[in-house]
Amino acid sequence: MLEEIQRRASLKWDAAQPEQVQHPQTLTLPADHIAAGLVIVFEHWGEPAGFAVVVPRDDGRADIDGPFVEPDLWRTGIGRKLVEEAAQFARALEAGELVAAANARSEPFYAKCGFKATGTVDTTHGPVSVMSRNLVF
Ligand SMILES: CC(C)(COP(=O)(O)OP(=O)(O)OC[C@H]1O[C@@H](n2cnc3c(N)ncnc32)[C@H](O)[C@@H]1OP(=O)(O)O)[C@@H](O)C(=O)NCCC(=O)NCCS
Repeated sequence: MLEEIQRRASLKWDAAQPEQVQHPQTLTLPADHIAAGLVIVFEHWGEPAGFAVVVPRDDGRADIDGPFVEPDLWRTGIGRKLVEEAAQFARALEAGELVAAANARSEPFYAKCGFKATGTVDTTHGPVSVMSRNLVF
């Protein structure tokens, strides 16, 4: 069910260039992340509506994977809620920063959620921005 949200969100996001179709491995939600309790799920009327994954790193920061929101519910605040939950969760894991790999289309969303561009990283489907949000007040 979560992978279906991820698939639908990714395809609607970039229908002209469905990079996730060219790189289907990016659509896999690792079972070990679910087993480790690293996946945050937001429900809407009892159904999964979006999710995000928080992965702690060795350098005292944490990665956020996603969020992915059911396309019919975009722009209703679910993405921001997932980021806020992810930030709280990452703080609880004692991470000082939350780091996102943001494609060109998601950069404005992450900027609205308090992330700043810090560089770029090469991925299987080209370079994307690295954006991070400070979690220490
Ligand atoms: C990116 C995504 C998670 C946003 O989710 P959402 O629920 O629509 O976001 P929200 O409604 O919480 O929006 C939060 C803020 O970001 C803004 N925003 C959201 N999408 C935006 C976009 N495409 N361009 C510009 N601003 C955007 C909203 O207007 C809102 O700003 P506001 O508070 O000033 O009104 C969703 O579009 C998605 O699932 N996309 C496909 C997957 C993806 O690329 N995920 C991120 C990287 S993996």
